[in-house]
Amino acid sequence: MSLKAKIIGVGLAAPEKILTNKDLEKIVETSDEWIKSRTGMSERHIADEKTATSDLATAAALKAIEMAKIAPEEIDLIITGTVTPDMPFPSAACFVQNNIKAVKAAAFDLSAACSGFIYGLSLSKGMIASGDARTILVIGADCLSKITDWTDRNTCVLFGDGAGAAVLQATSEDAGVLSTYTYSDASKTHLLQVPAGGSRVPFSKEVLENRTNFIKMEGNEVFKNAVKGMERAIDAALHKAGLKYEDVSLVIPHQANIRIIESIAKRMKLPPEKVFINLDKYGNTSAASIPIAMTEAYAAGRLKKGDILVITAFGAGLTMGAAVIKWGI
Ligand SMILES: CC(C)(COP(=O)(O)OP(=O)(O)OC[C@H]1O[C@@H](n2cnc3c(N)ncnc32)[C@H](O)[C@@H]1OP(=O)(O)O)[C@@H](O)C(=O)NCCC(=O)NCCS
Repeated sequence: MSLKAKIIGVGLAAPEKILTNKDLEKIVETSDEWIKSRTGMSERHIADEKTATSDLATAAALKAIEMAKIAPEEIDLIITGTVTPDMPFPSAACFVQNNIKAVKAAAFDLSAACSGFIYGLSLSKGMIASGDARTILVIGADCLSKITDWTDRNTCVLFGDGAGAAVLQATSEDAGVLSTYTYSDASKTHLLQVPAGGSRVPFSKEVLENRTNFIKMEGNEVFKNAVKGMERAIDAALHKAGLKYEDVSLVIPHQANIRIIESIAKRMKLPPEKVFINLDKYGNTSAASIPIAMTEAYAAGRLKKGDILVITAFGAGLTMGAAVIKWGI
């Protein structure tokens, strides 16, 4: 039997500063009522000028390592799912490696937007099963506030900053990542992107004037694809694990919009206690959303040893994915 990747520690970090819907009313033409009713969000954490993604990622990683009771030198690989690394290169994961003194690890970033943590988990599952790695730190971390257009009410009310981390370790126990399913629909890259600032349209005066270095999104279309994509991913991951909706103890969906989550819960006929929601406090934290929620769900006693956890996400690309995890701690 091949080795499973078991989650042995989780942790989260969020910046101190909180931006409420009322605060947003002073920045753009919006209202607390609109944001709550259309998204379910009330507040989000926003990084200050000095804080970069790897700072939050490091804080989350240290908590996950502490809970896992491992030494940083045991870590073979650090994967950081992010679209807001500190700089184009080196990777945020390399900064994390240095900060936590994981001196034996390989480190790289993975660009799958909000699905980054699930894509990282999927890779880790394979690395551990093959014996190429024994202990892996998977992080989802983003500071979308730094690439948000604070004059665009269509996007600026949705996002928050944060990081979540999980330590995965090889085990022969009946626990860990049972299956993953990842998928991308790249015919829809135009629905959600930062058009400039890369090699296609490098930074220039025009870019700054036209504000094309910020997130652009077709919200409605992303919404529809998110529902379809996550439903497809959940079904495929459960099928791979040989499990059904009834077997699931808890679903942690990407925290992008309460109405997207409700639609998934309705289809799976899940009672509220089987769906984890914290987007009211964090907004959409991109790749950090799932590991932050996982950390909070465990702390709240909503994940117990033997539980079947399903996580699912979608993001720019469009990327989509799901994982089925037998909780082992
Ligand atoms: C963005 C989103 C909340 C918009 O909700 P919606 O119900 O689809 O709203 P619409 O886009 O139809 O816009 C309705 C109206 O509200 C307006 N509006 C948009 N943002 C607003 C805001 N912050 N405050 C007030 N009004 C706003 C629009 O301009 C539009 O006005 P109009 O009818 O006069 O043109 C929703 O589409 C969504 O969550 N999409 C998914 C986005 C996402 O998850 N992105 C991240 C992917 S990881």
